[in-house]
Amino acid sequence: MSAYGVKIASTGSYIPERVVTNLDLERLVDTSDEWIQTRTGIRERHVAAEGETTSDMAAAAGRTALDRAGISPADLDLIIVATLSPDTFFPNTACYVQRKIGAGKCASFSIEAACCGFLYSLDVAASMLRGGGFKYALVIGAEKISMHVDWTDRTTCVLFGDGAGAVLLERVPADRNTFLASSLGADGNYTHLLRVPAGGSAMPITHEAIDQRENTIKMAGRETFKLAVNAMAGAAEEAMRRAGVTIDQVRWLVPHQANKRIISMVGQRLHIPEERVYINLDRYGNTSAASIPIAFDEIVRADRIAPGDTALFVAFGGGLTWAAAVVRW
Ligand code: UT7
Repeated sequence: MSAYGVKIASTGSYIPERVVTNLDLERLVDTSDEWIQTRTGIRERHVAAEGETTSDMAAAAGRTALDRAGISPADLDLIIVATLSPDTFFPNTACYVQRKIGAGKCASFSIEAACCGFLYSLDVAASMLRGGGFKYALVIGAEKISMHVDWTDRTTCVLFGDGAGAVLLERVPADRNTFLASSLGADGNYTHLLRVPAGGSAMPITHEAIDQRENTIKMAGRETFKLAVNAMAGAAEEAMRRAGVTIDQVRWLVPHQANKRIISMVGQRLHIPEERVYINLDRYGNTSAASIPIAFDEIVRADRIAPGDTALFVAFGGGLTWAAAVVRW
C-alpha cells in the first residue's frame, strides 16, 4: 500500500467554436437529421478551425484546470495527453502542450488507447503520483478527430466531433485518496473493427492509400455497438466492486459519449436511473478521448456534483479497449 493517494483538484475543457449541425451534414452526404438523432442522439458537433491543433485545444483545457486550482504551470510534474489525433507522430502532443502552457521541464508524454485514452491516462498518472515522485499531473483528453474523418462516408462522418477536457491530479496522503478504483482491459482480436488503416508502419501513407481514403476512420458499427455494451457494463461493475461502491452510491455515471442507445443500455444493465446518467453527445458527438473529461467538467462547472459525491467513468473504443474508474469529488 502506498502512503499516498490521489485527488482530482480541478477540471477544464475547451470546445472549438465552429458548429456542424445534422442539417449541414445533410448537404454533404445522403443522411437525415432524423436518422442521426434516432440512431445516435447527436444533433450537432464542433469542428476545430483549420490551423487549430489538438495541442491548442489541450492547452486551453489544461490552462483552465490549472487556473481553477490556483496552481501554476511551473508546479506541474507530469503532463499526459490522451489522443488518437496527435499534432505529429512525434514529438508527442504533451510536449507541445508543455510549451504552450508555460510549464517547466516536467515529464510529458501521450497515450493512445482510442476512446479509452483518458481513463488509461488517469490510471497511469494516478500510479505515478502514488509512487511518490510526482505531485501535480495534468491529464488531458484532446482530439481533432475531424482530421481522420471521411466526409463522404455517411456511416462515420455524422458521429465525431473535436474538443478537449482536462483534470488536474494532486498527490495527497493516502487517507485523503479520492481515486477509488479502476478497471482497464482490451481485446486485440478486434483491431479490425474500428481503425484508421493507413499512416502507420502497417500501411504507410501513399498517394494510393489516400486515393482509397485508407487514412480515414473505418468502423464496423453494428459489431462495435454490441461489444461496447457488454464491455462497458463489465468494466463499470468491476471498478465498483474494487472500490467497494454500489450503484446506489453513484451520483453520476459519466460514460464515453459514442451513442445514446449504447449509453441507455449500459445504464439499464447497471440499474442506474436515467437522471444520474450524464449525456452531452447531442451537442458534441463522439469526441473520443476527450468525451469523459469534457462531460465531467460540465458537471463540475454546473455545480451538479457536491464534495463527497461519487462519479463512475466508463469508456469503450478502438483496440478494442475498455476502461472504468470510480472517483469521489
Ligand atoms: O467511440 C468508439 C466506439 N464506437 C461506437 O461505440 C459506435 C458503435 N456503433 C454505433 O453507434 C452504431 O452502430 C452506428 C450509429 C454507427 C450505426 O447505427 P446502427 O443502428 O447500428 O445502423 P447500421 O450500421 O446497422 O445501419 C442501418 C442502416 C444501413 O442501411 P441498410 O443496410 O439497412 O439499407 C446503413 O447504410 O442505416 C444506414 N446508415 C445511414 N442512413 C442514413 C448508416 N449511416 C447512415 C446515415 N444516414 N448517417
